[in-house]
Amino acid sequence: MEKVKNHFEEEAKEFDSLILKLIPYYEEMITSLTLTIPFNTQETIKILDLGCGTGNVSKAVKEKFPQSKITCVDLAENMIYMARTKLSNYSDIEYKIGNFSKLDFDNDYHVIVSSLALHHLKTDEEKKRLYSKIYDALRDGGVFYNADTVLGSNTYLRKVNVEKWKNYMLKNLPMDEVEQKWLPTHYEEDFPASLMDQLDWLSQIGFKELDVVWKYYQGAVYGGIKKTVSVKTRSNKIRI
Ligand SMILES: C[S@@+](CC[C@H](N)C(=O)[O-])C[C@H]1O[C@@H](n2cnc3c(N)ncnc32)[C@H](O)[C@@H]1O
Repeated sequence: MEKVKNHFEEEAKEFDSLILKLIPYYEEMITSLTLTIPFNTQETIKILDLGCGTGNVSKAVKEKFPQSKITCVDLAENMIYMARTKLSNYSDIEYKIGNFSKLDFDNDYHVIVSSLALHHLKTDEEKKRLYSKIYDALRDGGVFYNADTVLGSNTYLRKVNVEKWKNYMLKNLPMDEVEQKWLPTHYEEDFPASLMDQLDWLSQIGFKELDVVWKYYQGAVYGGIKKTVSVKTRSNKIRI
């Protein structure tokens, strides 16, 4: 995690221009993340943005849900500094510097979102633990959606995905930089899991109405809702 933190501390100032060169359809992906939020735009909803970076997701959310109260969490102080600057005109945003796997969360969020951050967790177990923590942090009817880098379901598809990604970067950056910086960084710092496995884990944890709302090769936006259905029996209510 130290490596990831240092990477983003160093990159914070140029992150916004760089990310457009590195991630295909980045803006469309963020827009699709905000489209998943099933609340009235004037409602005061409580939102958690995990790995907020320079605040691009929170900004898009605030534009659509001006009354929302957002908590932005990130490991890297410099990313949080950039987010604070970008979001300085908006109220009701709090910032927390720290590792989202270790921080305590409230348990009444309407929405938890994340973009390009959770794949930095090294193991499947760490990812599953975080997904459970996210589930517990949502109120009933709350939603979680993640925009992230995912692994193809077999070796062939993984190769196709990486080729597609490499070709995208080569349109924007010199070959040396792609081959000597971005691809090695990816193999050292990124630990994506397969989309299908992650949907299974989310389902096992209890998320309902799981869906993949957007996908482009190794980029995907997916998630679901926390919904505990009440069934009335003769004398009491049970939860299923
Ligand atoms: C690629 S950036 C994405 C930033 C932003 N979500 C976006 O899409 O523009 C990933 C961010 O996640 C943060 N991050 C990665 N692992 C984290 C962790 N365990 N706890 C908190 N933040 C983390 C990094 O510091 C970095 O700012």
